[in-house]
Amino acid sequence: MDEILIPICGESDIVVARHEGRALAVQLGFSTSDQVLVTTAISEVARNIIQYADHGRMTMSIVEEQDRRGIRIVAQDEGPGIQDVDLAMMDGYSTGGGLGLGLPGSRRLMDEFELWTQVGKGTRITMTKWAR
Ligand SMILES: Nc1ncnc2c1ncn2[C@@H]1O[C@H](COP(=O)(O)OP(=O)(O)OP(=O)(O)O)[C@@H](O)[C@H]1O
Ligand SMILES: [Mg+2]
Repeated sequence: MDEILIPICGESDIVVARHEGRALAVQLGFSTSDQVLVTTAISEVARNIIQYADHGRMTMSIVEEQDRRGIRIVAQDEGPGIQDVDLAMMDGYSTGGGLGLGLPGSRRLMDEFELWTQVGKGTRITMTKWAR
């Protein structure tokens, strides 16, 4: 399956990522509200890359299994990483003066959400939403 690569270096790249994600969701027949859920999660993880890691990249693709299809988004950076993942995944935890809802919110919006991080190495989030 084709993979779309989007460098995330500034605000305008968030717009591009949302646009590309929505196009894939449309292609998969996602409802308008599911398109919004996906683009919201994309915005949140892209914004985190810019805010905490300065820059990074996202890849997006359509994934196919025997009985289902979905959109998979991988967001990765070589930033500082996350010290305490359990804490970062909790509603209200922010080291940046935010609401602390980006990561836990994105996990709720998507069907699958995986976070890999290593302090000093970076962070990678893999999230998937299945068509229904
Ligand atoms: N890519 C990243 N690299 C390093 N740290 C990150 C990254 N993404 C998130 N974090 C850490 O996890 C915390 C929680 O992230 P989350 O997106 O949930 O909240 P926030 O960005 O602080 O606020 P909000 O997203 O609600 O504006 C952040 O405050 C930051 O400490
Ligand atoms: Mg955030």
